[in-house]
Amino acid sequence: MAVILNTLAKSSLKLIIATRLRHHSSLATEFINNMDKKATWDRFYTENNNKATNFRNFEWFFGFDSIRDFILPMLHSPPNDAMLRVLDMGCGTSALGLSVYRDSVWPVQVTCADISPIAVRLMQEQTEIETVLPQNPSSKLDFLELDCTCLCKHFNSERLDLILDKGTIDALLRSKEGGAKASLVLKQCMKVLRNTGSLLQFSDEDPDSRMLWLEKESREPGLIIANVGVQEVGELRGVTYYCYQVTPHPAV
Ligand SMILES: C[S@@+](CC[C@H](N)C(=O)[O-])C[C@H]1O[C@@H](n2cnc3c(N)ncnc32)[C@H](O)[C@@H]1O
Repeated sequence: MAVILNTLAKSSLKLIIATRLRHHSSLATEFINNMDKKATWDRFYTENNNKATNFRNFEWFFGFDSIRDFILPMLHSPPNDAMLRVLDMGCGTSALGLSVYRDSVWPVQVTCADISPIAVRLMQEQTEIETVLPQNPSSKLDFLELDCTCLCKHFNSERLDLILDKGTIDALLRSKEGGAKASLVLKQCMKVLRNTGSLLQFSDEDPDSRMLWLEKESREPGLIIANVGVQEVGELRGVTYYCYQVTPHPAV
């Protein structure tokens, strides 16, 4: 069943990519097979950024307005008057992290991280050109070139309150050689999240297969167990999207 659902998800993704990138079907297949590679995304963000036209945020699928009601309630009064720490993991040139920084009433430190230096540079340049004022004057925003398979090298354990993943683990899972990287990224998310924190993952993968994967791969025997939940977000171009919430707990 899980294999059939994953095959369906791949074929709808192929159609979306072929349409969006104006690529032939064979190029779309090559793109999907290599979505775990930095070079694929460097080329993607270079091709999508036509210098002659103004920069526009690119959303892999829906933007912040469609998912704000899943994200903003996760933000709360920070512990000990500190800042809430939020990571947009594999931000690309999406406006997701920027929108959380802008709309949070609580003080947040939002880090938008991506493996592609091209995407990171485009985002940095854009925020220098167009200043966005946050609702909370103490909030901060930064951009970071980071391979998220090395999250633990950059963030201390139990450091983050919220990790947002819109399409990043999907990209690793659907590529030819990205399965092990996807598991590694998820395990590292569990380590860098506080025990009150969560990973919110937005994906079109059916709960029948994604819930099992998240439950299995987030577990570290003797160390971490995780609660996994799912809510439906809605439909976009005939595809149903979900919000998966993964919350780590120390195993007792
Ligand atoms: C499907 S796109 C989603 C981009 C963005 N989140 C959005 O919603 O438009 C996947 C993103 O993950 C990034 N990515 C892939 N592998 C990564 C890794 N190991 N570490 C960090 N980012 C990665 C890619 O550069 C790309 O920007």
